[in-house]
Amino acid sequence: MSYVDIHCHILPAVDDGARDLDESIDYARRLVDEGVREVVATPHVANPRFPLDPEEISDRVAALSAELHSREIPLRIHAGGELHPSDPNSLTDAQLELIANGPAGARWLLFEIPFAGVDQRYADNCRQLMARGFGLVIAHPERARGLFKDGGWELLRDLVAEGALLQINVCSLLGNNGLEAQEAAVGLLRSGYAFTLASDAHPGTRDHTAALGFALTLKAGASSLQAWRLTQANPRFLLRSGIPAGFNEQRAVTISRSLPVA
Ligand SMILES: [Fe+2]
Repeated sequence: MSYVDIHCHILPAVDDGARDLDESIDYARRLVDEGVREVVATPHVANPRFPLDPEEISDRVAALSAELHSREIPLRIHAGGELHPSDPNSLTDAQLELIANGPAGARWLLFEIPFAGVDQRYADNCRQLMARGFGLVIAHPERARGLFKDGGWELLRDLVAEGALLQINVCSLLGNNGLEAQEAAVGLLRSGYAFTLASDAHPGTRDHTAALGFALTLKAGASSLQAWRLTQANPRFLLRSGIPAGFNEQRAVTISRSLPVA
């Protein structure tokens, strides 16, 4: 197994993730034991609760990587960030570049879903970010309140048609975010709308892993091949190839157009 996790709060003492270096190291050691090879460090960015200058992230990733290297823990960490939905376009292109991943011309951002529900403002923000040249991976859409009841899904489905990709959480499949989020995650998985599964781990408090996610996708009804795509091939593709222009149009043939039922 060779898992890749694109959403993880592994950086120590920067947000509500790992509280100190020991928690980061313990979690990294576990990841390696379970077959996780690469992680994107995604501290909260532009989140009023956790002020963080995006310019600090690469140095913090380098510092943690050096600590892992000195302990012979072979986990590769990429710099990234989980962009908060409140006012993402207040960040400059240079700031967004610091948390984007993928090669030039196919860069993408991890953009958090609003927990209160998907609304027109969120959709507008997504389109502005895409118009600025960034692909979008939308973090844990299943956690948006009333996704399949309040019209949010129609807005989100249009965004997918326009190129956004969806990332569901391991903890949602576990049921830790409630039954509604669990059912929504399973629906997105079974319909083919979920492009990748990530831990969204907060080491020390919510420290499930992508490897556990693999087992949970099978339990939720995924084939072995789909589970491999969600936890290994697709997140690796995002890091190596990004989101190429027109990617979702080619991919649409594999997506069931039926509305996931939550
Ligand atoms: Fe997160």
